[in-house]
Amino acid sequence: MHEIVQKTYLVTGGDGFIGQHLVAKLVATGHDIIVVDNHITSMPSEDTPGVKVLQANIEQLNLSQLPKIDGIFHLASIAAPRLFREHPMSVIRPNIHGTERMVQLAELNSCRLIYTSSSETYGNAGDSISSKKMAEDHTSAHLLLSDKSPYSSAKVMGEEIIRSAKERGVDSTAIRLFNVYGENMDPTLQGRGRVIPNFLNALQQGLAIPVEGDGSQSRTFTWIGDVIEGLVQLMQHHRELPLVMNMGSEETITILDLAKMMATVIDIDPIIEFADRLSGDPDWRCPDCSLLRQTIGWSPQTSIEEGLRILISENLIRHPLI
Ligand SMILES: NC(=O)c1ccc[n+]([C@@H]2O[C@H](COP(=O)([O-])OP(=O)(O)OC[C@H]3O[C@@H](n4cnc5c(N)ncnc54)[C@H](O)[C@@H]3O)[C@@H](O)[C@H]2O)c1
Repeated sequence: MHEIVQKTYLVTGGDGFIGQHLVAKLVATGHDIIVVDNHITSMPSEDTPGVKVLQANIEQLNLSQLPKIDGIFHLASIAAPRLFREHPMSVIRPNIHGTERMVQLAELNSCRLIYTSSSETYGNAGDSISSKKMAEDHTSAHLLLSDKSPYSSAKVMGEEIIRSAKERGVDSTAIRLFNVYGENMDPTLQGRGRVIPNFLNALQQGLAIPVEGDGSQSRTFTWIGDVIEGLVQLMQHHRELPLVMNMGSEETITILDLAKMMATVIDIDPIIEFADRLSGDPDWRCPDCSLLRQTIGWSPQTSIEEGLRILISENLIRHPLI
């Protein structure tokens, strides 16, 4: 039997969607957690034994108030595309100044830093490849000064900060997440969040599903439970980690098919409303996760249909369809 060694982890953005699930998992496995969150896109969570919440901007965090830290998960960032243009500095600061500060903290504590980057670093990867998967060295083509560029540029800079830290010997990695979904996404955004909660919100209110463009753009969607397993394994991995790794499902679906699949799972006839697409929005995206598989043996266990069924059945219990 494995004996759990109790550790203290810092989770920035720990009251957000991924953060809450991560904190719950770490606490359940016996660790102490410090959450730093300014609650710009989340609500403070209920008091939980073993979790201390500091309401602060991560880029201004006073490091001297912290106890000894054994590992840092740096998740703090605005992550909903409709907010990137409205709050560009709130996207830029946590990913650039916040990442710098988390590097300092990792150096002070000689501990591992995991930074959540994004598939948005690939920008619009074009149609030029036949395999339709992107490994970490895939070409990236950004539409500069577009609706999405505050976020994609900030994530690219966050990765550069991790690269420079790693070259100085800081134990760190950047993980490019691909559309994570699950329970408790974007609770404060009401239809201005990410695609799955937006569609769910419309379906639950009996409204048309707002599909951006003609819906032919394809994405992959990664179940939250799979991502949490991956992040925890990365923190516990005993060897040095690569600089950057993709983490995501390799099962692609178009946005229009996603809308139809969600309606089928709920068992209603979908009404689709086509809306404007954000500038800089890519036509396709699908990770090649070979490096992550080789490093920690991770691969996602939950198909999009299974994940939607879990999500929708849990949501329906709390918010019955009228
Ligand atoms: N969920 C996804 O599909 C996805 C995909 C790619 C990358 N990511 C990255 O993963 C991380 C977590 O995403 P999420 O889905 O949980 O987003 P989220 O918006 O639900 O959570 C982010 C949290 O960070 C907090 N925050 C934002 N700026 C802050 C600041 N300056 N100081 C302190 N706290 C701050 C927010 O209040 C929120 O609680 C983000 O860095 C995001 O860019 C997420």
